[in-house]
Amino acid sequence: MRALDDVDPATFTSLGRVLIVTSTYGEGEMPDNAELFWDALSAESTPRLDGVDFAVLALGDTGYDGFCQAGKLIDMRLEQLGAERIVPRVDCDVEFEDIAATWIAETLPLVAAVEGINGEGVAASPPETTPARAKSQWTRKNPYPATLTTNRLLSGTDSAKEIRHFEFALADSGIEYEAGDALNVVPVNDTGLVRSLLALLALDGAAIPTGHDDTLEHLLTYRYEITAPNVDLLEAVEERTGNEELTYVLRHGDKAALDEWLWGRDIFDVLSLEPIPNFSADELLAVLKPLQHRAYSISSSPGIAEGSVHLTVAAVRYGTDERERRGVCSTFLSDRVGDDNPVGIFVTKNKSFRVPSDDTAPMIMVGPGTGIAPFRGFLQERRARGATGKNWLLFGDQKRSCDYIYEDELADFVGSGLLTRLDLAFSRDQAQKIYVQTRMKEHGAELFTWLEEGGHFYICGDASRMAKDVDVALHEVVAEHGGMSNEQAVEYVTALKREKRYVRDVY
Ligand SMILES: Cc1cc2nc3c(=O)[nH]c(=O)nc-3n(C[C@H](O)[C@H](O)[C@H](O)COP(=O)(O)OP(=O)(O)OC[C@H]3O[C@@H](n4cnc5c(N)ncnc54)[C@H](O)[C@@H]3O)c2cc1C
Ligand SMILES: NC(=O)c1ccc[n+]([C@@H]2O[C@H](COP(=O)([O-])OP(=O)(O)OC[C@H]3O[C@@H](n4cnc5c(N)ncnc54)[C@H](OP(=O)(O)O)[C@@H]3O)[C@@H](O)[C@H]2O)c1
Ligand SMILES: Cc1cc2nc3c(=O)[nH]c(=O)nc-3n(C[C@H](O)[C@H](O)[C@H](O)COP(=O)(O)O)c2cc1C
Repeated sequence: MRALDDVDPATFTSLGRVLIVTSTYGEGEMPDNAELFWDALSAESTPRLDGVDFAVLALGDTGYDGFCQAGKLIDMRLEQLGAERIVPRVDCDVEFEDIAATWIAETLPLVAAVEGINGEGVAASPPETTPARAKSQWTRKNPYPATLTTNRLLSGTDSAKEIRHFEFALADSGIEYEAGDALNVVPVNDTGLVRSLLALLALDGAAIPTGHDDTLEHLLTYRYEITAPNVDLLEAVEERTGNEELTYVLRHGDKAALDEWLWGRDIFDVLSLEPIPNFSADELLAVLKPLQHRAYSISSSPGIAEGSVHLTVAAVRYGTDERERRGVCSTFLSDRVGDDNPVGIFVTKNKSFRVPSDDTAPMIMVGPGTGIAPFRGFLQERRARGATGKNWLLFGDQKRSCDYIYEDELADFVGSGLLTRLDLAFSRDQAQKIYVQTRMKEHGAELFTWLEEGGHFYICGDASRMAKDVDVALHEVVAEHGGMSNEQAVEYVTALKREKRYVRDVY
């Protein structure tokens, strides 16, 4: 078993058969650890793959436009190159476990048949990675009920944001994590919103919907997403009400118009457009999505934060004073976890997002906003390991006076010499925006020197704008200070990725 980026598609011919499992990230994009593989597979020069048998399992989320797009592209390209699909591609939505298990059970014996060996042999072949550790018993379906011990506001009262620091006690859970991993939190919906929805649709919360063991109120509180409208729900409302606005955005085929219309509206808004006569509990549940956990970059290292795990979370709040709309999980953590309510958590490993294994290697961390989270963990980790490598953090947010989160801790990291460089970019303290990439370019010569010294470059935070612009800036710095053409800079940055010295944790 290999990460896709560690595989050259040209070797598929000698392998004879390949099974590919891939998720999709960004907006219909390859996950970071399949980008180089896709570049190679999609290149015009890729050799034909006649005689290769393949199967693709695609993981995704129907909430995104490019549902399972990465798996679909790989599946199509392999066929184009002459490889033979031994089973149809399967696209999994968020509840992937059962469908993925069926695919694996059906596909492995077929691969074994191709090879003339038994299925057991194939399934048992060990991954070529670090030695396997016992899998955590705490999973999506069985999260650990953790006690939230700290909920502290980090941003100032004048801030446009509400960023909080959370700590969970790990107690006797046996949970192990490393700086760079993600902690998943299973949220509980706002009971006030649940009651408002029940009242709006004149539904009886105490009724037990068909095929369920729990009351409607319980299901809406614990089992279903009741804030973000999905297309099935929009269509159901449009069908029942014939609302012209909704008809226009749904039927016009203009995705941007639909997104614009949806921005700032939640399910309650959509259901309030017009009275919906006789919308039954069963019909409502049929168009709601299962409630999902949310991932957060862990902001501690177990070496320092013994027995606990820390998060740095921006509370999502928008709307009017009349009715504030609240992000499900971030405001569950901020507002609704009582002293006696444990919070369901489990860890997702992120093996590619780690401090360098070489303690002397330089580390450059770009993490504006909540993007600082894993880098607090990285700095703690380097302190715990006594690592001597240089560390450089580029951090920023809107205003220094109220958004300089973890200021004291960062001052301590600088004072102790652990943080060699700290560059700050507060975007709204002056007329002209200053962003982290502004600082990268100002100190481009030094940045390039750190890379030449074997430095590792990390980005965390906003995927849609910041991470893309920082990537562009990195290429510009490399071209300018490395005296390279644009093509050579691309090659240089690609080599960093290949060596796992350029990694991202973006969302
Ligand atoms: C790997 C990973 C790591 C992450 N790490 C962190 C982290 O360290 N810290 C952190 O804070 N988050 C992090 N996130 C994001 C986090 O998972 C959640 O997405 C975030 O907390 C919002 O979840 P929610 O349930 O509160 O909001 P949801 O209920 O999911 O609502 C979010 C939605 O609200 C809408 N919305 C948001 N703002 C507005 C607005 N102003 N106007 C109109 N509509 C709006 C948008 O449609 C948005 O998609 C990470 C995500 C991933 C995938
Ligand atoms: N889709 C959206 O419109 C949107 C908006 C905000 C946040 N988010 C989401 O919120 C999370 C992170 O939010 P956050 O509050 O921690 O931080 P953030 O919104 O990313 O803001 C942190 C800092 O980054 C700056 N920034 C904005 N655009 C940038 C760019 N292109 N390049 C570099 N820096 C840029 C911001 O400046 P300014 O704000 O002054 O421009 C701010 O100073 C992510 O999930 C992100 O995707 C999404
Ligand atoms: C930031 C982000 C972006 C995503 N973008 C897409 C997408 O465009 N299309 C899709 O089908 N799934 C998308 N997904 C869903 C993932 O592909 C899905 O959750 C998958 O099961 C993740 O598998 P992994 O945790 O093994 O990487 C996205 C998930 C995240 C967190």
